[in-house]
Amino acid sequence: GKKVTTLTLKQKKQKGEKITMLTAYDYSTAKIFDEVGIDVLLVGDSLGMVVLGYESTLPVTMEDMLHHVQAVSRGTTNAMVVADMPFMSYHVSVGESVRNAGRFLQEAGANAVKLEGGREVADTVKAIIAAGIPVMGHLGLTPQSINQLGGYRVQGKDEAAARAIINNALALQDAGVFAIVLECVPAPLAKMVTERLDIPTIGIGAGKDCDGQVLVSHDILGLYSDLVPKMAKQYASLKPIIVDAVARYKKEVETGVFPAEEHSFQMAAEELNKLS
Ligand code: KIV
Ligand code: NA
Repeated sequence: GKKVTTLTLKQKKQKGEKITMLTAYDYSTAKIFDEVGIDVLLVGDSLGMVVLGYESTLPVTMEDMLHHVQAVSRGTTNAMVVADMPFMSYHVSVGESVRNAGRFLQEAGANAVKLEGGREVADTVKAIIAAGIPVMGHLGLTPQSINQLGGYRVQGKDEAAARAIINNALALQDAGVFAIVLECVPAPLAKMVTERLDIPTIGIGAGKDCDGQVLVSHDILGLYSDLVPKMAKQYASLKPIIVDAVARYKKEVETGVFPAEEHSFQMAAEELNKLS
């Protein structure tokens, strides 16, 4: 394997090869996904919901994100590590945004950052890129704006909303982003955006014609059951497997079956005799 860079992703789009991206939040799972050859590991602020148990992504802080990006970076060799900028870390001022983006590369080993929004974040995006930090955009359903959007729903269904997404995608490309996540937009709109852009689109609930796909790893593995979105395909159902393993462990401890001889340590009989 070779380290995946922004150039690798651009070349994949040009060659018509699909880009694979998954969320990761810790060392051990990052290591597994990296070994499988996933191109991009996103430490998403979905962390707040699937790992930290919040009801939305809004409570997630810079410190939460840095802690998990550090763990994912330690487990990753070839994949590109992208750090999601949390709510309020890139909204107050351009200077503060650049400083926060920089922390992910300087203190946590990320290769790039992702932030939500279109035209309204273009100046911020430019300033972060001017510091040598690659930026990934995110349009359509942007969960940090849930209070404005009024719920987790498909975006860009009418002409005006669709045009706004196309224009925002072009504005982000002009600002210099290396890729754009399209979340929960109609498949034909995602196809149109993908064809209009030189940079790759990464879809989640955006149909098959994006240049790549991303899903939340807890969703594909069947580990998070509070909310199972329509766009997520469950490739494994790990919860019943974990329930079974933990229940057998509990039973074996309670009945004295575990630990067995093979899990225990012995000492020389003569040493043991001296004790009694
Ligand atoms: O936080 C996240 O997991 C994301 C992906 C769903 C794109 O932003
Ligand atoms: Na996110």
